[in-house]
Amino acid sequence: MMKKIMKYYYILIAGALLIGVFYFFGQKNEDVKLVDICQNRNSDECKIDQLPYTSSSIPIDERVNDLIDRMSLEEKIGQMMLIERNSLKNDDDIALYGLGGLLSGMGSKPETNTPEGWLSMVNGYTRISKTTRLAIPVMYGADAIHGHTNIETATVFPHFIGLGATGDPELIKKVALATTEELAASGIYWNFSPNLDVLGDPRWGRFFESFGSSTSLVTELGTAYLDGIKSYDSSPYHPIGTAKHFVGAGAMVWGESYNKDFMIDQGESKMTSEELFQRHLPSFEAAIAAGVPSVMVGLNSWQGQKLSTNKYLITDVLKNDLGFDGFVVSDWYGVYEIEKNKYNSAVTAVNTGIDMIMLPFEYQRFMKDMQKAVKNGDISQERIDDAVARILKVKFQIGLFDNVDYNTNLTQDIGSEEHRKIAREAVSKSMVVLKNDNNLLPISKFSQKIYVAGTAADNLGMQLGGWSVEWQGIDGNWTPGTTILDGIREVMSPQVDLFYNKDGNFETDNQLADIGIMVVGEKPYAEGWGDTKNLSLNSDDLKTIEKLKKNSKKILVIIISGRPLEIKNEIKNWDATIAAWLPGSEGGGVADIIFGVQPITGKLPVAWEL
Ligand code: BGC
Repeated sequence: MMKKIMKYYYILIAGALLIGVFYFFGQKNEDVKLVDICQNRNSDECKIDQLPYTSSSIPIDERVNDLIDRMSLEEKIGQMMLIERNSLKNDDDIALYGLGGLLSGMGSKPETNTPEGWLSMVNGYTRISKTTRLAIPVMYGADAIHGHTNIETATVFPHFIGLGATGDPELIKKVALATTEELAASGIYWNFSPNLDVLGDPRWGRFFESFGSSTSLVTELGTAYLDGIKSYDSSPYHPIGTAKHFVGAGAMVWGESYNKDFMIDQGESKMTSEELFQRHLPSFEAAIAAGVPSVMVGLNSWQGQKLSTNKYLITDVLKNDLGFDGFVVSDWYGVYEIEKNKYNSAVTAVNTGIDMIMLPFEYQRFMKDMQKAVKNGDISQERIDDAVARILKVKFQIGLFDNVDYNTNLTQDIGSEEHRKIAREAVSKSMVVLKNDNNLLPISKFSQKIYVAGTAADNLGMQLGGWSVEWQGIDGNWTPGTTILDGIREVMSPQVDLFYNKDGNFETDNQLADIGIMVVGEKPYAEGWGDTKNLSLNSDDLKTIEKLKKNSKKILVIIISGRPLEIKNEIKNWDATIAAWLPGSEGGGVADIIFGVQPITGKLPVAWEL
């Protein structure tokens, strides 16, 4: 009897489970509509080649209107999503969700991290996106903030703080163009650069990402960078940059981060309205005047309110007053950090004026929530159409619709000799001489004996800093390039006796070196993990300097860092000091300054207390 009851009981449970499963899938299909895919482009519902928006001979605004009129709500929502490639459950989701954008967060690379690996990955994604009913191409974005440093073999230019020290807009244009050529050679036409933050506190882990602390310098060089991107003409595409981080991210202060792991980053930008408009807005204003098509909203807050919820700044000021007619993109997971309720967060962000949401993970949720939001009237159809029109316009401008079959392989541009030459010029122009007693610099190429020491002397990872193949960078020699030691060896005369020991342990043979060159500084870091209140050299480096001093008649200390370090107490004991910032892959440019191959022209782009 008991057995019989149990049997019915099990049947009942199994039945309930089955109903549950059917209900769940039924619900899912009923709730979320996805994008229609075309197996056969020649079938009636998939024929697009005669449609006006596909014709490059009609004005872009007309193409946008024609396309929008044909789009379903789900196709429009798809365009508003920017997804990190690693969070794709399946590559086919690019088409099923009609994704507008894909990105590589730094470190998110194809299995073979080569130029060809990137090109085939990005082209593959584009091909999938073109299987959708209206064949709208996905737009791929990446951070090429000091070169296309997603790829190991790319040319790595100095981080922006070093470029700021050059103060040379013509050079910045060349750097931007070379970077764009390397990015475009891997099929990417959207760079999340330039950073237009006006710098404040050097304890911030992103200090090196911007040109400096002067509004006019950031504005001038930021505009030059955008001009450099615009001058690209190696293929029929027109790559774009992104002005970031709107606005006032450089004004974040210590101890006010909303992220429990950080001290400054993702925190409060403490400033008056006047300061915001006079010190932090002009670089964006100039970028807009220069035609930048995308603006990224910062993860910072102002007056206790997250920028991504500030409708006044994003819609009224940026779009209406400044006349920005490109699209606004949010930063990383920022939108879902607005509040706990994700539906409300997304609704707020879109209504604030954000057009493309860097989700960057949860596309299923967003697709469902936006459909609900439009149905409920929480977001108007006009707001969706405006956001999508802005995004599509830029896609047309880039040429994504018209050049998908463009096939010339330009991957030889990545890490080319020509680009490395530009980087080397940028490095030498970015060197700032902080001290030069008795004109020690330039050093004679024909000195008899030189000692070189220090953790950064033969260390590409330190030269490159953060945002280099991995988000936080990688210490050590793991990438092609010229270390500072290599550069010294290359530039000095072959008859010099040069000895290198990282720790400054040299055999004393009673003959002091004419000069001891010490290269020290910061290990790589990025964003909030680089927030620190300790800006001193570490004790091992200081000990090595002491050893070197004992063995050398004079010492030159070269500092590799993303920000001014505290060397006030030590610099008086050194004969010469160079701020080399984060010079990138071409250490030869440092040697060019040490030995006088190039003149010293670099100037401090930020204050440095000495
Ligand atoms: C940074 C942005 C960057 C984005 C995409 C964020 O963490 O704040 O500057 O463009 O990641 O990698």
